[in-house]
This record gives sequence, structure tokens and C-alpha cells, in this order.
Amino acid sequence: MSKNNQFNCLRGFQYISNLECHILYHIQNIFLQLIKNYNMELFQPPILAKTAIFQSLGDTSDIVKKELYNFTQKDGEEVCLIPECTRVFVEQMLQQQKFQGSYGCFSSCFRYERPQLGRYRHFHQISVEVIGSDHYMKDIELFCFLRDFLHILHIKDYTIWINSIGSIEDRKRYEKVLEQYFAPLLKLMSKSNQEKFHRKAFLRMLDSKQLEDINIIKNAPIILNYLCDDSKKQYELIKLTLTQLDIPFQENPFLVRGLDYYNNLVFEYTHNDLGAQNSILGGGRYDYLFYQIIQKQVPAVGFAIGIERIMHILLQNKEYLKIYQYKSISIIPVEQTEHLYALEIFYQINEKIKCTILYEGNVSNRLQKANKNNNDYVIIIGETERKHKNLKLKNMVLKEEKLLTLEELLVYF
Ligand code: HAM
Repeated sequence: MSKNNQFNCLRGFQYISNLECHILYHIQNIFLQLIKNYNMELFQPPILAKTAIFQSLGDTSDIVKKELYNFTQKDGEEVCLIPECTRVFVEQMLQQQKFQGSYGCFSSCFRYERPQLGRYRHFHQISVEVIGSDHYMKDIELFCFLRDFLHILHIKDYTIWINSIGSIEDRKRYEKVLEQYFAPLLKLMSKSNQEKFHRKAFLRMLDSKQLEDINIIKNAPIILNYLCDDSKKQYELIKLTLTQLDIPFQENPFLVRGLDYYNNLVFEYTHNDLGAQNSILGGGRYDYLFYQIIQKQVPAVGFAIGIERIMHILLQNKEYLKIYQYKSISIIPVEQTEHLYALEIFYQINEKIKCTILYEGNVSNRLQKANKNNNDYVIIIGETERKHKNLKLKNMVLKEEKLLTLEELLVYF
């Protein structure tokens, strides 16, 4: 055990390093650019919310049932750290009486899960929500947004999985069929799936990754055979358009997603560079969520991207990381009289190269420090250089020294 363990952060939380922070902000910049390109509005959910709003989502989802980070606040109210943004987004739209438009946010989320690679108790999501239209092209636009996002980040090797879980009526029909199918096989299934059966979470049973369940699920009836004509037509149109747009996808008839509010199209993207937690994003239609709360029909579709999983992929991509490897320089003003001249040089070049001014210690100490910091260059300025508005540029790699004017230095970098 390292002696510094006392400074570890909470289980499932992590300190974000300098490089990871740069990647995080880079992802945010790309997201902001796409928000503009797709003419979307931004929103920012508060990270603390009433527990009840998530509990109202239904009781078959682990995210709501087991993983809520909830506590009683000082005034006795039951609150939780938000496990996702969609439900709070809906709350905000209701508060502002907005029932139309496209919205995006970048937010922290919290789930009290068992931490492992790619699964944290505090993580970040980009969430995009489009409300007020049930047109299938709105679903398609989300795939286009995601294609742009992943393309700009040079992320390839991902697989798009899609499914339709139909309308509420379709699902009711399908759940009856599933109940009949699972009932005689229940004794052979895992404890967790038996428990799901007893609380009538039949669809959620399809999610199981337990060995004893997998073969039984493989032969289960698939929902596509129980979709009504409208649901079928909508799904066929989406598949046709994705094909026309050259967006390759795979169908998974057992993809049901971890939250209860979905209907019709559901999707997930997985990536090969991740382990068990290989889903980099997920989403789908939730046309009934507004209705459940205010009995008003507001169709909606959206997705959320897991930022830590995207960062994990980027951290393994040497080509991508090159954008963060720019050169570094230290400026050494010999005496106090050169401090302002050092600042002047700093302002001229700090956009092009990582630049630090070393003020303390004698010149040889500061040169040693620059060497230790792996600086590529050092600039030394004494009285003569200040008077002549020039400088000595030392190339620490080639061990060369050049006398340059300020103008020549600007061209140099
Ligand atoms: P979700 O599938 O629960 O969907 O989460 C979306 C993504 O967040 C996941 O695919 C994963 O990349 C990331 N994620 C989830 N849990 C964790 C965790 N513990 N640690 C790290 N990353 C995690 C939703 O949240 C829905 N609100 C998506 C949505 C928006 N549907 C409609 N609109």
C-alpha cells in the first residue's frame, strides 16, 4: 500500500489528470461546435434533484432501484445526485413550458454502482434531447450528430446496435409472451432473473449477462414479431435511411436499455477498445415520459455519451494524443531589470509554445531546472539583450545557441 493512500478520493471517484482535463475540454469544444451546427440550445441540469422524480420512472431499472445516490437533506427532503440528465431535462422543460426543440448538455452524473474500468460513481455525460416531434428523421439526425462527433475525434471501430421495443401496447403483448416463455424455464435461470420475473420485469430479463440465462434468452421470442404496423413501419424507415446514409448498424432484438422510459427505437454504440463496459453511448425514443407526468403528448428522442469511456479510447490513440505534444520553453531573465522584457517575450510566443518564465535562483540553477523540466528551448536575456531587443535562444535538444531579434523569434516558432 502506498503511503499516500490517505489522500485517495472516494471509491468510484477519480482525480482527473492534466492530460485528461485537456481531453475533457476538447470534447466539450467539439460538442459546443456541433450544438451550433445542428442549431440546438444548451441546458445545464442541477446535479441535485428530488429523489421522487427518478423513482417515478418505474421500478424495473437498476439505475433507479439500486444505484441512486440518495440522501435526506437537512430540511428532511429526499434528494439524490442525478444518475442521468433526461429526467431532469424534462423537469426543466415543464417548468419553462417548452415542448419543442433540440437541446444538449454536458453534465456530471452519479450512480452508486460497483466501480470497474469504465464504470465510475461519478462520471460525465453529453446528453442530447429532441422534443416535440415523432418524425423518424429526428431519430436519424441524432445518428448524423453522433457520426460527426466520433469522426472529429477520430474514433472508428465502434458498432451501432439498434432495436425497436415498440409502443406501450406492443410491449404489453410482448411481455405476456415473454412471461409464458420464461415461466417453465425459471428454475434454470439466475437468482437475479428469477427476482426480475417475480416483479414482472420480463423485458429486463433479456439484459442478463449471466451464463445460465444467456442460452435461454437466445431462444426467446423477439419483440419484432409483436410490433404493430405503425411501429414496424417507423423502424423499417429508420433502417432504410441509415443504410442510404451509409451508417452501418447491427440489429439486436434483445437490446432493451437500462431505463424504463423508452419506446420504439432504442440504440447503443459499443467500442472494441473497452472491456466489459463497452457501451460508449445509448439512447432512444421516450414519447410517453411527458405524458406520464402531465398527461400531455410530447414525443421525444435523445441519447447520452459516456465521456470517461470516450476519454479512455482517446488515451489509447497515439495519433490523437499528438495534438497535446507541443514544445516547451523557459525564459531566464538574468536580473530583475529584465523581468518586463521577459514578460514581453512571453506574450509574443505563448500561443505557439508552452512557455514559463523562471525568476528564482542563479542562471545555472535555472538552466538545470529547465533541463529537468525537459524544456525544448531556453531563452536567456541579460542587460545587453534587453538593450538591443534581442535574445539568446538555446536549443536544449541539439545543444545549440542562436542570437535572435524578437521579430526573428516570432518567425522561428
Ligand atoms: P445510459 O445508457 O444509462 O443512458 O447512459 C449513457 C452512457 O453513459 C452509457 O452508454 C455509458 O457510456 C455512460 N455511463 C453510464 N453509467 C456509467 C458509469 N457508471 N460510469 C461511466 N460511464 C457511464 C442514459 O443515461 C439516458 N439518459 C440516455 C438518453 C438520453 N436517452 C434519451 N435521452
